Amino acid sequence: MMTHRDSDKGRARTGNAKLLAWIDEMAALCRPDSIHWCDGSQEEYDHLCDEMVRGGTLIPLNQDKRPGSYLARSDPGDVARVEDRTFISSRRAEDAGPSNNWADPDEMKRTLKRLFDGCMRGRTMYVCPFSMGPLGSPIAHIGVQITDSAYAAVNMRIMTRMGNMVLDALGDDGDFVPCLHSVGAPLAPGEADVPWPCNETKYIVHFPEEHAIWSFGSGYGGNALLGKKCFALRIASAMARQEGWLAEHMLILGVESPEGETTYIAAAFPSACGKTNLAMLIPPDGFDGWRVTTIGDDIAWIKPDPDGRLRAINPEAGYFGVAPGTSMASNPNAMRMLRRNCIFTNVALTDDGDVWWEGMDGAPPAHAIDWQGNDWTPDCGRLAAHPNARFTAPAAECPSLDPNWESPEGVPIAALVFGGRLSRTFPLVYQAFDWPHGVYCAATMGSEATAAAVGQAAIRRDPMAMLPFCGYNMADYWGHWLEMERRLVDPPPIFRVNWFRKDDEGKFMWPGFGQNMRVLKWIVDRVRGCAPAVESPLGLMPRHEDIEWAGLAFPRETFLDLTAVDRTAGLAEAEDQRVFFDRFAGHLPAALEEQRAGLIARLTEAPALWRMEAQALHVLVTDDCA
Ligand code: OXD
Ligand code: MN
Repeated sequence: MMTHRDSDKGRARTGNAKLLAWIDEMAALCRPDSIHWCDGSQEEYDHLCDEMVRGGTLIPLNQDKRPGSYLARSDPGDVARVEDRTFISSRRAEDAGPSNNWADPDEMKRTLKRLFDGCMRGRTMYVCPFSMGPLGSPIAHIGVQITDSAYAAVNMRIMTRMGNMVLDALGDDGDFVPCLHSVGAPLAPGEADVPWPCNETKYIVHFPEEHAIWSFGSGYGGNALLGKKCFALRIASAMARQEGWLAEHMLILGVESPEGETTYIAAAFPSACGKTNLAMLIPPDGFDGWRVTTIGDDIAWIKPDPDGRLRAINPEAGYFGVAPGTSMASNPNAMRMLRRNCIFTNVALTDDGDVWWEGMDGAPPAHAIDWQGNDWTPDCGRLAAHPNARFTAPAAECPSLDPNWESPEGVPIAALVFGGRLSRTFPLVYQAFDWPHGVYCAATMGSEATAAAVGQAAIRRDPMAMLPFCGYNMADYWGHWLEMERRLVDPPPIFRVNWFRKDDEGKFMWPGFGQNMRVLKWIVDRVRGCAPAVESPLGLMPRHEDIEWAGLAFPRETFLDLTAVDRTAGLAEAEDQRVFFDRFAGHLPAALEEQRAGLIARLTEAPALWRMEAQALHVLVTDDCA
């Protein structure tokens, strides 16, 4: 018999007929032993964590070293987002587009209903009402996740605003995105549970017309914390297209000048390109009085305000970051953020009850327990932490958190930045000539992947870093971006950056990390109208003298190499873009093909190797705001 644990306080708290009917329908389908409406309180969080400690899902860490923190180890087959099992189930296949897996919604619902039938037997069904964005913000939206994973419920409490206040904000008639999640591991009467239940069969399904999410079989990350990639990107991008705003895979940071003026920048990079590091950057020597503040590290919801200015919120309330590689050298703010109240997943456990991962500062521990629970020593030939090991950390613990991060109206976005990981061809930074050119630069961005041919690097196109996250046809999404210009009074400038260019010996030319502040400062100066730029075939670039070099000896010659444009490589790039665009035939906006033709024309007129010291430069001089 179904018992409503927690005396159904949550149920009694809401008169929202749509919500109540959905919960009843899903409970009848999934048949949990009990239902628990999450109130979002600290007591509830502690209680769920205690239960998971008893059940072996969580290991409490050393409370002196990491107070309030836990370690979870996943099933070895459930360690990352499963893009090949992720579907966009729109009525027409062409509305999902060639870059998404498509499935007919009626057929998919039939498949899912079979899988979800009785899938929560022996388990508790948690009802998690959550808000993406500050409650009451005109940019925020509400979702409700049903899950049979207590691990997902406590992570959702960190990553979103979750609990009773959301039910109150929802009211009797408010709308929400229904997010159904099951690990797909029902328990027979008397059957013992495992620490990380999951199912080999996995489906992460989005119904963009219905604004609904069904996720089956995985307890990990973006497969299970449905507010993140599923709602805040795939479903929200479809909502944003209908409503005239942007749901983007972008960090948001503030650059505060010594005068106390903050310029907000939203920036998109493909996964694993250091977004969290950039969002929490500490300015290097030579930048006294400058500060970078963090609004978000992964997702931005950006809407035009009534004055036609873009305003952005971070819909999340925590950071779900990749642990390996995070260190005091790469991201001191993140390391400080991880001191308490975190959940670590798939990192190593040290003998003194602390966590460790590859790339952390200092020598590796002499002994640890690896992410699979086995003994580990530095010479054992295995990784201690899984490469996609994660931390879930509350935003409130982030030392660089921007004071306006919860401002309901969002922060004004002064510049948009797009970057990839490209070792050849692409210079350090350039500004697009105008909005349509910027959309083209963003639509053609990408990172190098190892190609089938040994030793060759091919570009994996990742338009706007949204390839795995766009909830509809990518070419219609480009059309939507182009269309947004009409809604804006003074569209923010768009920049492309690339920290990863290498020299002929294969060494990175740009020192990276904190030094990226120098590029951010040039962007801020451009926004404020006080930095010159020169026209290159690709876009507007800084000269060596336009960058702040205090504290870093960076040879002018290296800068000239870093900003050079090779005609043959540029034309090959334009041809590769054509092949990519061809996949979207029938939906590709004409403006993007015009932009590509413009690039070819500029490259054809340019010298074989465009280098700043070698040609007469057209310098766009601006006011001096120093
Ligand atoms: C992420 C990703 O987890 O982009 O943020 O993959
Ligand atoms: Mn991401």
